[in-house]
Amino acid sequence: MRRRSFLAMGGATGVAVAMSQIPDARAAVAAVAHPAAAVADPAAGSANATLRGLAAKIGLRVGTAVIPQDLNTPAWTAILAEQFSVVTPGNAMKWGPVEPQQGVFDWSDADTLVSFAEAHGQLVRGHTLLWHNQLPTWLTTGVANGTISKSQLMSLLEQHIFTEVGRYKGRIWQWDVANEFFLDANPSGINPNDFWVSNLGAGIIPQAFKWAHQADPHALLFYNDYNIAGEDGTNAKSDAVYAWLRQMLDQGVPINGVGNQGHLDTQFGFSGIRMTSDLQRYGALGLKVAITEADVRTFVNNATDQVPTDNLAVFAQPYEFSQMMLAALAVPEVISFTVWGFVDADSWVPGFFTGEGYATIYDVNAQPKLAFYNLLEDLQIAAFGAPRRVHTPGAF
Ligand code: G3I
Repeated sequence: MRRRSFLAMGGATGVAVAMSQIPDARAAVAAVAHPAAAVADPAAGSANATLRGLAAKIGLRVGTAVIPQDLNTPAWTAILAEQFSVVTPGNAMKWGPVEPQQGVFDWSDADTLVSFAEAHGQLVRGHTLLWHNQLPTWLTTGVANGTISKSQLMSLLEQHIFTEVGRYKGRIWQWDVANEFFLDANPSGINPNDFWVSNLGAGIIPQAFKWAHQADPHALLFYNDYNIAGEDGTNAKSDAVYAWLRQMLDQGVPINGVGNQGHLDTQFGFSGIRMTSDLQRYGALGLKVAITEADVRTFVNNATDQVPTDNLAVFAQPYEFSQMMLAALAVPEVISFTVWGFVDADSWVPGFFTGEGYATIYDVNAQPKLAFYNLLEDLQIAAFGAPRRVHTPGAF
């Protein structure tokens, strides 16, 4: 269970190794990135040589998490519009931000992001309705001090789901209805100490799906979690989620999809092959599948520059991105591949994992990294196949 540290928090103190101290790595990135930059769309011209354009050829959507501040930087906005075909509000649809005081709603950030998506031909992944984190303080305090009873909590949740899902009815492609309910343990299972489970029992999870389905019958409703495609090394969490999903579907719970977040770290290693087979078995349940929050972090010099301190990390980072994409491409039920922020300067990683960063596909200056080009190349081959070999007549 090497990834138990996933939720460990802390400021990035940084490791004092400058990029100039690893010139080989820098040169290697430049050398590899440059030729791949020429990847083109032979059928539709260079305008389609984007992540979203290539993915569209096989009916896949490529997405990113976004916060409203991302729209303040023109270079970032241009990338967002050009490369991505689905958007996930990174925080703006969580309960805390939308109802900071009981009965006082702030939809401004969520509205901004949904409008941006609609203006740019992008779909929206709603994130998230039932999670232990980023709940309003009035709610958690009220439950803790007993001024909100368990039956009131249940009503408040029902009201929350109907209010939010209802507000965006018809405008959300996929909703992450329930998020991160399973233990990082072997064997895994639903966390009995989760805020919602400890207060209302595990039955609250399927109930949330039923409410969300009533509120917007056309939205695809997802269960979303991290390390549920074998990244824990044991497959224990995947096994538990798979068994639970099967049980829920047998009971007629309106779950349409499963999202594997895809938060990776180069220090742990990762099996792309196992991810493929785990995604396949979710698909075999009749579910849609999504990679919902892909990023690959590694140790860096400091939180500002985010230069990897290990030469090999420069290659491990794009490799793991590519392995995730290949797993997604291999499974037809995977309908979207979303990265959790696209530029290192705006990644959640340095603020949560001390000394780590470089987790996205664009560097701190919004320049595409090797990971971007690897994803582009993977999508190019998926969309058009490998080009046929050119043989010289008369030669072997
Ligand atoms: O909005 C307040 C601001 O008023 C305050 O001044 C500031 C001081 O710290 O905090 C701001 O809130 C922060 C919030 O992001 C908005 O920026 C929180 O402290 C911070 O904890 C929160 O982090 C978010 C994290 O979820 C919370 O667990 C990240 O931005 C967000 O990217 C991250 O996303 C999660 C997914 O929802 C679920 N899967 C894991 C993923 C990464 O943790």
